[in-house]
Amino acid sequence: MAANNHLYHISLALLLCLGLFAIQVTSRTLQDDMYERHRQWMSQYGKVYKDSQEREKRFKIFTENVNYIEAFNKGDNNKLYTLGVNQFADLTNDEFTSSRNKFKGHMCSSITRTSTFKYENASAIPSSVDWRKKGAVTPVKNQGQCGCCWAFSAVAATEGIHKLSTGKLISLSEQELVDCDTKGVDQGCEGGLMDDAFKFIIQNHGLNTEANYPYQGVDGTCNANKGSINAVTITGYEDVPTNNEQALQKAVANQPISVAIDASGSDFQFYKSGVFTGSCGTELDHGVTAVGYGVSNDGTKYWLVKNSWGTEWGEEGYIMMQRGVDAAEGLCGIAMQASYPTA
Ligand SMILES: *[C@@H]1O[C@H](CO)[C@@H](O)[C@H](O)[C@H]1NC(C)=O
Repeated sequence: MAANNHLYHISLALLLCLGLFAIQVTSRTLQDDMYERHRQWMSQYGKVYKDSQEREKRFKIFTENVNYIEAFNKGDNNKLYTLGVNQFADLTNDEFTSSRNKFKGHMCSSITRTSTFKYENASAIPSSVDWRKKGAVTPVKNQGQCGCCWAFSAVAATEGIHKLSTGKLISLSEQELVDCDTKGVDQGCEGGLMDDAFKFIIQNHGLNTEANYPYQGVDGTCNANKGSINAVTITGYEDVPTNNEQALQKAVANQPISVAIDASGSDFQFYKSGVFTGSCGTELDHGVTAVGYGVSNDGTKYWLVKNSWGTEWGEEGYIMMQRGVDAAEGLCGIAMQASYPTA
C-alpha cells in the first residue's frame, strides 16, 4: 500500500514535470514564431529600430497587436470586416492616432458652415456609385507620418470635381497646401480643415500638380514660384447639411466629397477588408474622401472611402464604412462635416 502510494506520487510528479516542460516548450516556440514573424514584418516594411531596446519594445507591441488582430478575425461574432497585420502593427493605438489623425474639427466647435447646398433637389440618385470607375479618382496616396490628412482629403475632392467638369484627371499637390496654406487654421503636418484648404485654393487661384510640387511628408517653406503655378482651380465650396446621410448620398452621387471621421480606434488602424461597422465614436480626427457608395452582397449599405495611408492599408487603400446607421451623425461621424469644392 505504502509502496503503491509512493509510486503514485512519483508518477504524478513526473507527469507534472512533463506537463510544465511541455508548456514551456510550447510558449518558447510561440515566442520564437512571433519573433520570426516580427523579423519578416520588419523586412517587408523596411523597419529599422535604433537599438535592441527599441526593438524589444516594438516586438512587445507587435505581439499584442497580432494577438488582438488574430483573436478578432477568429471570433465568431458576425463581424462584417476583417483586420490585418499592416504597416502600423508595431504602434500602439495612441502613437498611431497622434501622428496621423490631425483633422481639426474637434478643436473648432464654432465652425461656420455654408448654407447653400446645390444638390438639395438632386433626383434620380443611383443605388450605387463608384467614382473610380468614372476615372475621377487618382491612385491612393500616402501621407506618411505627417498629420495633413485634411490636405489629402481636400485635394482628392478637388481632383474629382476637376475631372467631372473638364474631363481631365490631374493629380494635385498636397505639399503646396502643407507649405503655403499656413496663415489661418491649417498648419501643415499639425492639422487643418478641408474647408480652409478649399478657401486657400480659391484665394490662391488654384493649385499646382503633384508632379510639379511633389509630396515631402514634412512641413516645408512655401515655394512661391511653384505655388503660383495653378494647374487646377475651383470657384467655391459648399458644406453638406450636417448629420444627414441622405444629403451626403445626394452629394456623393454627384462628385467625390471630403468627409471628416473619427478614425481613432484600433479596428480602424488595422482594418483590412469588408464593411467596417465600428467601433468608433464621433470625435472627428481624420479627413478622407467619400468616392462612392453601394450595398454589399449581404445587404449592408456602405460608403466607399479613399484614405491616404497607402495601398497596404485596407482594401488597396480604401475602406467601406457602414452607411445608413441609426445615429444621425453616421458611422464614425461621417455625416457631420462633409464638404466639396465647386467648379
Ligand atoms: C430646391 O427646390 C426648392 C423648391 O422648389 C427651391 O426653393 C430651392 O431653391 C431649390 N434648391 C436648389 C439648390 O436649387
